[in-house]
Amino acid sequence: MATATPLQIHNVVTEFLATPKKLLIDGKWVPASSGKTFDSIDPATGEVLARVAEGDKADIDLAVHAARRAFESGPWAKMSPSQRGRIIWKIGDLIEENTEEFAELETLDNGKPISVSRVADVPLAADLFRYMAGWATKIEGSTIPISAGAFLAYTRREPIGVVGQIIPWNFPLLMAAWKLGPALATGCTVVLKPAEQTPLSAIRLGEIALEAGLPPGVLNIVTGFGETAGAALAAHPDVDKVAFTGSTEVGKLIVQAAAGNLKKVTLELGGKSPNIVFDDADLRHATAGAANAIFFNHGQCCCAGSRLYVEDKIFDKVVEGVSESAKKIRVGPGMNPDTNMGPLVSEEQFRRVRGYMEAGINEGAKAVVGGKTVGNRGYFVEPTVLVNTNPKMKVVQEEIFGPVVTAMPFHSVDEIAAEANNTPYGLAAGIWTKDIAKAHSLANKLKAGTVWVNCYNVFDAAMPFGGYKQSGWGREMGKEALELYTETKSVCVRIN
Ligand code: NAI
Ligand code: MG
Repeated sequence: MATATPLQIHNVVTEFLATPKKLLIDGKWVPASSGKTFDSIDPATGEVLARVAEGDKADIDLAVHAARRAFESGPWAKMSPSQRGRIIWKIGDLIEENTEEFAELETLDNGKPISVSRVADVPLAADLFRYMAGWATKIEGSTIPISAGAFLAYTRREPIGVVGQIIPWNFPLLMAAWKLGPALATGCTVVLKPAEQTPLSAIRLGEIALEAGLPPGVLNIVTGFGETAGAALAAHPDVDKVAFTGSTEVGKLIVQAAAGNLKKVTLELGGKSPNIVFDDADLRHATAGAANAIFFNHGQCCCAGSRLYVEDKIFDKVVEGVSESAKKIRVGPGMNPDTNMGPLVSEEQFRRVRGYMEAGINEGAKAVVGGKTVGNRGYFVEPTVLVNTNPKMKVVQEEIFGPVVTAMPFHSVDEIAAEANNTPYGLAAGIWTKDIAKAHSLANKLKAGTVWVNCYNVFDAAMPFGGYKQSGWGREMGKEALELYTETKSVCVRIN
């Protein structure tokens, strides 16, 4: 375990945690209509961090009404794209100004190392808002030369309307940013449902969104559980679109719930991403990259490189290198400045990951490193490298969502694409080679929304992200995300 003195939590954070957190509805912070609350837990200790309003169907209803009013007739509906862009930019600025506060909240609530929250989660969230702020003034239709006669035909891209957004706990602030950025840039209004494990940074984001000048009702935040608040939002008849990130299992429930009013749906779901190392790769980079691909964020990444395929000649060497990296990872509370890997997010997730480790070993896999839990307080597990697996094992088939990689040898470039694609998922993939022809031709064959070549886990607000197959519908970030928050209207005018 990492042993440095934990960071002193700043006063602003202590004060924020000390008051019960409420729902944001129509620009006001209100308790849940039922009066109920739930606890947000510090996964490093298992202790209560804050009490949070437990929103339910009734609160979702109020929030959707507020969002509808704001969309149809509030100041937001009349605001120019330029004014809208300035507010979104300001949200980015305010996130940046409060980096330390956001980083501490994220680390306390989610468990991730403070060193990571500071340089990844918080700045990437700020950057996403700035990128999307620029788009507010650039959402254009086109003029279309139609052949039907003398007509002027053009398209308008109009905001889709009231959007329900349901987000997960692995990057709480950043996932809120990915979802809110394009919704606000296009002029939609939002009801956001943060994950019950990690509601705090979204609540703080709500505060700064109001400070930035977002009018009442444009962003409503209903904290609560998936089966109640989340399900009510996905099914709500006055929501025009639902955007969801989380498990493939719940993604399918969202699709069913959305069928009632045929609201539009975008989904960013699970993955079991292949990371492929050829024997002509720069081995130092490839080995460090393979470790980063699975151990970043404790493996709690939808795009985690959880199936490591290594060309047989260099298999032992790469496995040894990744295992050495795993041994060097300092596991400990996220608030320790020298921690590299914090606890998993929750007891449920801890049990699930431990279950996979045990299942792998019981089915005959060997842990070269790791395979066990760490300590007896909080939800810590060891970074784990499994070998001697076969394609039928649960650990090879299913998303573990923890720091557990299965390493498997392969023999030729001809066989690897089929093997890499042999999963219901298709979110991401990695390729490590110095042969550019091999890299590009394999990139074309992989059924994955993102292919990283000689790198992994590179994200940018401008680069679309999303999944093939059961990894999802639609894309987040980049220009593509905006298209999924607009409707196209064709206008056809007789001109003779
Ligand atoms: P989940 O899919 O249950 O939760 C994600 C979000 O959906 C949360 O906000 C939750 O409250 C909400 N939700 C849950 N049930 C719902 C329902 N019936 N209707 C509407 N919303 C609902 O994921 P969970 O249980 O936290 O984790 C389970 C597994 O899901 C993980 O082990 C991992 O494999 C996967 N997962 C994938 C993520 C990704 O980034 N693609 C993120 C989180 C989890
Ligand atoms: Mg769940």
